Amino acid sequence: MQKRKTSMKAGMWMVGALLLTGCADERGDGVLGDGWLLEQDSHAARFEQLESYLGGFSSAMWETGHRYDIVYAAIADGNYALADYHWQKIRSAIRNGYTKRPARQANADALFLDGAWGELASALETAKESAKENENGNGAEVRDAFMVARSACMACHVAEDVPFMNDQKMFRDTDSF
Ligand code: HEC
Repeated sequence: MQKRKTSMKAGMWMVGALLLTGCADERGDGVLGDGWLLEQDSHAARFEQLESYLGGFSSAMWETGHRYDIVYAAIADGNYALADYHWQKIRSAIRNGYTKRPARQANADALFLDGAWGELASALETAKESAKENENGNGAEVRDAFMVARSACMACHVAEDVPFMNDQKMFRDTDSF
C-alpha cells in the first residue's frame, strides 16, 4: 500500500515534469509568447534578443540603398531639400551600422563619410540656399558630387569584400544624370 502511494506520487511528478517539458519544447519549436522580451529571464537575455532583432550592417545598408535611390531621383528633379534630407539620414544609417559592426568603421569613414559624403552634403546645402533665393543653381556641382559619392559606395563594397553589391540595378540606374 505504502509502495503504491509512493509510485502514485512519483507518477504525478512525472506528469508535471512532462507538462513542463512540453511547454519548453513548444518554445523551442518557435512558438513564442506575446511578451517576447518580458518573458525572458534576465536583462542579458532581453538584450540578446534585441541585438539579434536589430540586425548588423546589412540592415543599415538596406536603408542606405533605399535612401540612395531617393537622393538620386530628388537631384534629378531639382528637389535639393529632399535630397539633403535623405543624404543626412544615410550618414546616420551608416554610423548606426558600424556601431553594431565596428569592423566596418575604418573603411566607412576613410572611403565614404570623411570625404565624398561631406562634398555632396555641402553642395546640397548651397543648392538649397540658392533655390530659396532664386539664384542660378549649382546643379552641376551637386550632380558631380553625387557621382563621386556613388563611386565611394562602390569602392567600399570592393574593400569590404562584397564586390558583387556593385553589379545591381541601383548602381546601373544611377551611373549618370
Ligand atoms: C563599410 C563600407 C561601405 C560603404 C561606405 C557602403 N557600403 Fe553598402 N555594403 C557594405 C557591406 C559590407 C555590405 C554587406 C553587408 C553585410 O553582409 O553585412 C553592403 C551591402 C549593401 C547593400 C545590400 C543591403 C542588403 O542586405 O539589402 C546595398 C543596397 C548597399 N550596400 C548600398 C550601398 C550604397 C548605396 C552606399 C553608398 C551610399 C553604400 N552601400 C556604402 C559596405 C559598405
